[in-house]
Amino acid sequence: MTKKRLFIVSNRLPVNVEVVNDKTEIHPSSGGLVSAISSFLDDEKEKKLNKYSDTYWVGVPGCTAPVWSAAGQDLNDDNYKFLPVFISKKVYDAYYNGLSNSMLWPLFHYFPSYAEFNSDAYTSYKKANEEFLEVLLKHLGPGDVVWIHDYHLLPLAGMIRNELPEITIGFFLHIPFPSHEIFKIMPKEWQEHILEGMLGADLIGFHTIDYAAHFLKTVQMVFGLQNEKNIIEYKNRLVKAEVFPISIDYDKFHDAWDDPAVREKRHALKKQFNERKIIFSVDRLDYTKGVYNRLKAYEYFLSNYPEYHGKVVFIMNVVPSRDSISKYAERKKIIDEYVGNLLSTVGTVTWQPIIYQYANLDFDELVAMYTSCDLALITPIRDGMNLVAKEFVASRRDERGVLVLSEMAGAARELTYALVINPIDTEEIALKIKEGLEMTGAEQAMRMKAMQKAVQRYSVNTWAADFFKKLEGIRKKQKEFEVRFLDNDSRIELLGSFNNAKSRLLLLDYDGTLKPFVSHPALAKPDDNLLEILRALAEDKRNHIYIISGRDSTTLGSWIGHLPINIVAEHGAKFRDAGQDWQNEPSINTEWLPVVEEIMMNHARQCERSFVEKKEFSIAWHYRNAETAPGKLVADELYNELQQYTSSLKIKVVKGNKIIEVRNKGINKGVAVNRILKTGKYDFTLACGDDTTDEDMFRQLADIKSAYTIKIGPEASYAKYNLYTPQMVTSLLNTLKDIVEHSGKPAQLKATGD
Ligand code: UDP
Ligand code: G6P
Repeated sequence: MTKKRLFIVSNRLPVNVEVVNDKTEIHPSSGGLVSAISSFLDDEKEKKLNKYSDTYWVGVPGCTAPVWSAAGQDLNDDNYKFLPVFISKKVYDAYYNGLSNSMLWPLFHYFPSYAEFNSDAYTSYKKANEEFLEVLLKHLGPGDVVWIHDYHLLPLAGMIRNELPEITIGFFLHIPFPSHEIFKIMPKEWQEHILEGMLGADLIGFHTIDYAAHFLKTVQMVFGLQNEKNIIEYKNRLVKAEVFPISIDYDKFHDAWDDPAVREKRHALKKQFNERKIIFSVDRLDYTKGVYNRLKAYEYFLSNYPEYHGKVVFIMNVVPSRDSISKYAERKKIIDEYVGNLLSTVGTVTWQPIIYQYANLDFDELVAMYTSCDLALITPIRDGMNLVAKEFVASRRDERGVLVLSEMAGAARELTYALVINPIDTEEIALKIKEGLEMTGAEQAMRMKAMQKAVQRYSVNTWAADFFKKLEGIRKKQKEFEVRFLDNDSRIELLGSFNNAKSRLLLLDYDGTLKPFVSHPALAKPDDNLLEILRALAEDKRNHIYIISGRDSTTLGSWIGHLPINIVAEHGAKFRDAGQDWQNEPSINTEWLPVVEEIMMNHARQCERSFVEKKEFSIAWHYRNAETAPGKLVADELYNELQQYTSSLKIKVVKGNKIIEVRNKGINKGVAVNRILKTGKYDFTLACGDDTTDEDMFRQLADIKSAYTIKIGPEASYAKYNLYTPQMVTSLLNTLKDIVEHSGKPAQLKATGD
């Protein structure tokens, strides 16, 4: 089997090549994304997993093509190759400093007042993504896997998908995905373009369950698309949103304790500060990192607990980042001033309460700091994950040290044994600093061990492996979902199976399946031909027929109740075996019905020719006959209002074909089919349906080999086959009737060529 190639795509390459005073300088890139992906690729190399024949890292190198040709070629790692993307300075500035870091970054981190909405910047954002696309298209071939990273490249997956519909694409967002209330602040056109881009991927990864939930909700609000177990059906394709909390190379940090260079630096630090307690923090220069509030809290700690004067030092390292953006440059000034002030007001000749460095740290320096400090103070206002917190935990081979961590960091979800604080609560932070500095060794060890276990369990390799596994999983599901029309060969096979079967189950939806949609549900009465086909089929004792519909029991009973067939009404809330009485699904609650009816009636009044259909256990608003635009508008409004009203109730709002329906949770055609399957042993099953609600039935039957599931209509579905129209279903049933009437003479088994 030929191996696939992997293309990692991120804005930055892990190296940044710059020309300073005519000399080429090469620096490693900073930040969580590069740390995580580099660790994953290095580990792949070490463990010789070699799952891919070649790995490429596609990104911006920081320099022009000629400079790269001279310097960059030698940088290619033997584990992966660089594919540089060259973007003109003007476009890059507007894409990186402008749209990415002055709109998306502040907005997605809940700093909407910092967000700038500039349409030229958005044009450059698209242009830069096109440059990435161009490079990728030169290299991508069938079977390749593309893994795109972060907010700089939100539209890219969609752009690749347009060119290469079959390619496998994963996307991972390294920052929070905000709530819809925040997302919708940006212009509608951008919202749609961004979501469309993300939905071009097969799998979309987020750090936490909240970010994934916000994304799913946003897709629902912007495109009206619902999800089923985190899977969205978009443009006839399935796309999955999942949670993958990014992590670090645990062993690398854990084992660094014994590294001679780290040990030497640690001892030097300990010696330098002697008996003083060390508080440490490191982050990129960023207003999201909460440095200002941290300083305020430290100052408050010193003034409230003067016994610590002379006994503590705060080493605060800020890594230069995005300094050509005014909000970042401003931040630097604010920090510089604050630190200067603190030193001059609180410091003494013999005691410097804070040591502030504005610089990059190399690995040894960083781990030496992690392992010599008494307390790590990590207080972001918002942070997608925060790898520093995990690195600190992993480094502490001695099981000592206290982590004070903001509840606003994604990492707080896993590191629950940290002292968790609210990053703007000065008093709380000060109190936790004191508590941390006074914590007993035994408690430090208990907390540290628990956190180490959590980080070790899901290291960066588990993260990546998990992502690739889920990516394969969704690709497999997509294959099952693709449109496949019931062609002549499959039809003959179906007829043959029916003919040979001893016990056959026929599960037939009604509207849109046995009868075409009409302007009002009451007009879809079965005609004589249909009734005759059903009657003839039901006469053969080998056939067990179920009409399985969302309609009310009274209508179904009056239309087909005289035939010897079983009926499931209201999606399974009521059922009636042939010749028996109606039964209700136990535990159905209808207390919510009057309120929902009122909400629906209010909306029906706003939308001409729409109407409410009230059933015993469910209720539906139909807008098939309404004008398209107002119909959609009112449908969206109604849907949102119903979602809000029902969020804490055990009921479900379902969007169907020009219908919005509300019914009890746990009642659906899948559950109904499950119950039916227990009633007997069937060696042939045919299930036909046209609507979203029939997908539950198809999913339930997906693993049953002898089941033929047919979606009516041209859309992709969990059904194995598609037929275009209800007339084609009637024709198929008519052929089954012929087989029954001729008692299975093989000569009858020919396709009818519909
Ligand atoms: N880091 C770095 N250079 C430094 C100090 C730290 O590259 O001088 C690394 C650090 O080890 C960590 C990453 O930068 O892996 C920061 O990731 P985090 O998720 O904490 O924050 P981000 O910068 O991605 O917002
Ligand atoms: C965060 C982002 C990354 C980014 C990093 C450093 O971790 O999620 O995409 O690379 O910060 O920021 P920079 O702007 O220097 O690339």
